Amino acid sequence: MAQVIGGFFTSHVPAIGNAIARRQQNEPYWKPFFDAFPPVREWIGKQKPDVIIFFYNDHGLNFFLDKMPTFAVGAAAEYVSEDEGWGIPTTPSFQGDQKLSWHIINSIVADGFDPVMCQEMTVDHAITNPMLLMYPDGNWPVRIVPIAINSIQHPLPGPKRCYDLGGAVGRAIESYNEVVSVLVLGSGGLSHQLDGERAGFINKAFDQECMDAIAGDVSVLNKYSALDVVERAGSQGVELMCWIAARAAMGGGSVKELRRSYHIPISNTASAVMLLSNERVKAAKAA
Ligand code: DHB
Ligand code: FE
Repeated sequence: MAQVIGGFFTSHVPAIGNAIARRQQNEPYWKPFFDAFPPVREWIGKQKPDVIIFFYNDHGLNFFLDKMPTFAVGAAAEYVSEDEGWGIPTTPSFQGDQKLSWHIINSIVADGFDPVMCQEMTVDHAITNPMLLMYPDGNWPVRIVPIAINSIQHPLPGPKRCYDLGGAVGRAIESYNEVVSVLVLGSGGLSHQLDGERAGFINKAFDQECMDAIAGDVSVLNKYSALDVVERAGSQGVELMCWIAARAAMGGGSVKELRRSYHIPISNTASAVMLLSNERVKAAKAA
């Protein structure tokens, strides 16, 4: 049976891709951010997930304002990293898991969601940043299933809707009859606003509240609407929805916080990293 072994949550910023390409990880500006990753890599290296289910947001590379799905699930054999601007180098392509993708799509449609199903999907820094942070040599020992959440075009799905989506994906994984170990990943956030009067806006207190919720009961964030999150986290801080969905996909059991790091700023973003293990899976294995 498929099992979610843990959840990994990280900010993504185009500048991270450039810093990796220029080997700037140990420079004073970057070190506090990159120092979060060796323990994450060590844990992932031991756990060896087969598949990573990515909750992420596309930034206009694959979807644009003319056609913007609220939720989209990748069902491709391969996901290509294409030039999205910002000068970031592209990476090798990512192998998909079409069988699991279609199982998730079937299951969540039966559960009341209406995702766009993507048999072709290019991916941007929201996928390539976390993959390079986990696997710096660019050899990907995992398959991926990307699930995109609209964080660009209003109306945006809010915390409760994304929590419910994550729950539906978590039930889909549990009902998948293959022995696969799954890492769920939330890419984006935390607080940031790239344009307008509040450009540069960051809200440390709200970010801490969100990280505490991710480590504990994420449903406490369901009291906020999408616009509440825009107000509190900035217009691009709504990428928090990817964290909420990923955490909800871990199910209701207890989790252990293995790693938390928070650093302001990387570019315009309050950068945050969290790693949780799924204690329910461990308990089941021990029994
Ligand atoms: C920045 C952050 C993002 O999440 C993004 O997608 C693009 C840019 C930034 O802080 O510069
Ligand atoms: Fe982003």
